[in-house]
Amino acid sequence: MTPVPVITIDGAGGTGKGVVSQLIAKKLKWHLLDSGALYRVLALAAQKHNVSIEIENESALTVLAEHLDVQFVAVALGEFPRVLLEGEEVTNIIRTEKTGNSASKVGALPAVRSALLNRQRAFRQSPGLVTDGRDMGTVVFPDADVKIFLTASPHVRAQRRHNQLKERGIDVNLSDLVEELTERDRRDQERTVAPLKPAMDAVLVDTDFLTIDEVVEKILSVVKQKI
Ligand code: DC
Repeated sequence: MTPVPVITIDGAGGTGKGVVSQLIAKKLKWHLLDSGALYRVLALAAQKHNVSIEIENESALTVLAEHLDVQFVAVALGEFPRVLLEGEEVTNIIRTEKTGNSASKVGALPAVRSALLNRQRAFRQSPGLVTDGRDMGTVVFPDADVKIFLTASPHVRAQRRHNQLKERGIDVNLSDLVEELTERDRRDQERTVAPLKPAMDAVLVDTDFLTIDEVVEKILSVVKQKI
């Protein structure tokens, strides 16, 4: 039996991987895994259950990860799902910079990452999966059919994040954002387990001068050649 096809889209925050993955999943009518959302929900669960995110609490956080009661409710294949933690709507709360930072901290703990591995692999369902994250092509789906790694300069990424937040009515300082993104990158790249880096067989796409549609087109042309 041939395995269900997978397209992995990895990269740092602000490279556009979230929206690009969603558009590709929608176009192909495949499932979508936003792995960052899992780490974000776990960070929120830790806050809810008063477990602070530090190395000393790795086993408590691992237990939380193993029992994480999270639901992704998609209206249709490839659509961004609503996210529920213990039955409670957290779709918007998980998107704040604060939760992103806590997600990066909780994601630096090796036992927590292992606890979330099978949960992520379970998203591999017919007719196919598009998945976005940091280690999708390197660790979670090393046998993926197409691996993409998106890049963009820190300034462009901060500007995109700034626009995104502004659209949601959240006004943040641009230079604070550059600083936060750089700090988060450093943590994601330097962690010992599953650091943010391209898989050996990933196709690198620099998105600095490309629109979202152009990035999607580029990836779809790679998909056409390989699948
Ligand atoms: O993609 P995102 O911004 O939603 O991810 C938030 C954080 O979660 C990111 O800074 C690091 C962590 N993360 C991870 O460690 N591994 C993943 N596959 C996805 C996210």
